[in-house]
Amino acid sequence: MLKVGLVGVGGISGGHISSWDNLENASLTSICDIRKERLERYPDKKHYLSFDEMLEAEQFDIIDICLPTYLHTEFALKCLKKGINVICEKPISLKAEDVDLIYNTAKENGAKFMVAQVLRFWPEYEFVKQVYEDKRYGKLLTGKMSRLTSYPKWSWDNWYTDESRSGLVPYDLHIHDLDFMVYLFGKPTVENSLKLKSDTNYYMRNIYNFGDFSVSAEASWYNVPYPFGAEFLFEFEDAIVSLERGSFKVYESNGKVIDFRNSSECEGEISIPKGSAYYNEIEYFANCVINNTEPDIVKPEELKTVINILNK
Ligand SMILES: NC(=O)c1ccc[n+]([C@@H]2O[C@H](COP(=O)([O-])OP(=O)(O)OC[C@H]3O[C@@H](n4cnc5c(N)ncnc54)[C@H](O)[C@@H]3O)[C@@H](O)[C@H]2O)c1
Repeated sequence: MLKVGLVGVGGISGGHISSWDNLENASLTSICDIRKERLERYPDKKHYLSFDEMLEAEQFDIIDICLPTYLHTEFALKCLKKGINVICEKPISLKAEDVDLIYNTAKENGAKFMVAQVLRFWPEYEFVKQVYEDKRYGKLLTGKMSRLTSYPKWSWDNWYTDESRSGLVPYDLHIHDLDFMVYLFGKPTVENSLKLKSDTNYYMRNIYNFGDFSVSAEASWYNVPYPFGAEFLFEFEDAIVSLERGSFKVYESNGKVIDFRNSSECEGEISIPKGSAYYNEIEYFANCVINNTEPDIVKPEELKTVINILNK
């Protein structure tokens, strides 16, 4: 049984905690946050207000880092130097040089490290990867991706709205789509880049050229209570695969439309990978630790490529 600790019991931690609790061969025993009220939501766990005290007091196989972005590198290094395996929320860092620092430290100390780039484990996005690779719908022609929401005024200590601590929209939202593209299509050139930024709004749109095709991607924090939405449309020679307006559909050139949210309709046809993406990524990393295999679904070179593009 893997013994797991988690640090940073904020917004995203809920998906991690429930995933660990649903995993059979791991036990999330202890959680740490500087805010007592966040810890009190989980009365069945041991509570720590200090991360150093938690590491001193217990022996962990894995630490799950769900802290604000600017703390990822410091806390990951602290664990890796003790030989503790680390899964860390995205982004790994705002600086490309931290990628080598973290991976080298992991190697030197015989520990495993993975950034939780969750789209790599997200069923709809995994389906895009499948059809892009097996070419069942022919070559990819065009793509568009988006991630839109409202300005995050609510965050702990306002860290999201501080560029030096969060990297703002490029590192909060757009990094998901860019990471997925780099994972699937390789390193792009940026053809066209637009950033419109004020104290209350941030909109960006990039067009990425991958040689045979281009993908446009936009991301935004709007100054209104706009609901979070992540969408895509990939146009292949013989089909459009689309996640839009809450629907996940394939529109085939023969006139057929497959609606994945209507499971009876696509029974026996094509299927998408199952499960919650947060559970999937956590299960994958836990299995890497158990089986002593590298969590190389996320590669340091890809992470550096993404940071270098975002920092241009
Ligand atoms: N994968 C995703 O879909 C996804 C979604 C949201 C956020 N994230 C990432 O997750 C990370 C956390 O984001 P969030 O929205 O949960 O932030 P948050 O502000 O809601 O939570 C951060 C928590 O860390 C705690 N904290 C701060 N300093 C600490 C310290 N020194 N020791 C212990 N606890 C400390 C805060 O009290 C807070 O509870 C960010 O890097 C973000 O980019 C990923």
